[in-house]
Amino acid sequence: MQRPSRVLAALVFIALGWSAAVSAQTTAAPAAAAVAPAPAAATAGIQSQNIFQVKPDASADPNYASQTNGERAKVQPGNNAPMWRQVGAGVTGVSSLPKSEAPEAGNLIQPFVQYPGSRLTNAGEAWRQVRNNWIIPYGGSLFLIVVLAIAIFYFTKGSIKNHGADTGRKIERFTPFERAAHWSNAIAFSILAISGLVMAFGKFFLLPVMGSTLFGWLTYVLKTAHNFAGPLFAVSLVVVFFTFLRDNWPQKGDLQWLAKGGGLISGDEPASNRFNAGEKLIFWGGVFFLGIIVVASGLVLDKLLPGLIYERGTMQVAHMVHAVATVLMMCMFLGHIYLGTIGMQGAYKAMRTGYVDETWAKDHHEYWYDDVKAGKIPAQRSEPIPPGQTVQV
Ligand code: HEM
Repeated sequence: MQRPSRVLAALVFIALGWSAAVSAQTTAAPAAAAVAPAPAAATAGIQSQNIFQVKPDASADPNYASQTNGERAKVQPGNNAPMWRQVGAGVTGVSSLPKSEAPEAGNLIQPFVQYPGSRLTNAGEAWRQVRNNWIIPYGGSLFLIVVLAIAIFYFTKGSIKNHGADTGRKIERFTPFERAAHWSNAIAFSILAISGLVMAFGKFFLLPVMGSTLFGWLTYVLKTAHNFAGPLFAVSLVVVFFTFLRDNWPQKGDLQWLAKGGGLISGDEPASNRFNAGEKLIFWGGVFFLGIIVVASGLVLDKLLPGLIYERGTMQVAHMVHAVATVLMMCMFLGHIYLGTIGMQGAYKAMRTGYVDETWAKDHHEYWYDDVKAGKIPAQRSEPIPPGQTVQV
């Protein structure tokens, strides 16, 4: 009886061992499947190309860097680096849009240029460098230096006063037409100067105070005002130029006036005609020379000059010219505005009312005063005042 029981025990042992081995295999199978999916599942569905798997050694080719986009597509499909490199270098592609309407439709990034003061780089970046590295810091500094110099002059020397008491006898210095031309121009100029200064420098002194939302709206409003005041300034500048041209030609005494600096420091003002040499310099330098440059570049920026193709390069050059000329113009007119308001007693009244006292005329424009007294220039040039009516000044 011993033998059959030993055989049975051996059979039970084998059976148990076999079933344990099978169950261990079936529980391990899903984990193994998760680690390495069947090849059939990996090739199903939409696939993207991985350039590193297509030809990992393609870049070892000595001509790799000079491949065209077509050549690159053969060894590394989907790698468009050659095309983007050309785009970045400013190459113009093909566009079916008409050149007159969309002159730069085929060009995403402008070709390389070197604007004065920039590195050789694509034109957009070159323009940015000129604006941010030169125009803004140096233009802003020059403007502040002029403001500071005027302030120092005012607080040390004070306003230029008349030498004697008023006589009560008036001379008409500016006719109503001359004043209307001047003030239209001055108002347009003030709008342009204030809005221009905020657009260029506002982010340094206004943005931190008022926050981006308010500053954004303010700049948007001022930019619109700038675009409208520009053409008004252009027209009134032409009128001002022709109105005051006659008395701004060089005359006797101008060089002497300049040599003595107009007596600004000594206080001994040299004799001058209707306009002195300082005013003539502002007229020819500020109104005429800078005026032409500022107006022409401004009209380009407003896209108001007909027949011009407005490309990005055109706008960049116009912007740089406009910014430099306007900073110089503002600096010149700061001096003019100072002397026309708080810098000289009686000057503002002359432009507001049109009349000056004989004392003022003798003090500041002696040759002109002599000509009026000699009857060479009428003391009243506009419509004569009816008898019995006094002049309102
Ligand atoms: C914005 C404030 C301005 C003020 C307060 C102002 C004030 C004056 C005053 C008081 C005069 C008379 C000077 C005299 O009697 O000799 C004058 C003359 C004149 N102003 Fe202005 N002005 C301003 C802006 C401008 C602007 C923007 C221009 C031109 C762009 C301009 C062009 C002239 C011209 C051409 C004269 C005649 C003197 C000359 O031809 O040199 N002014 N201004």
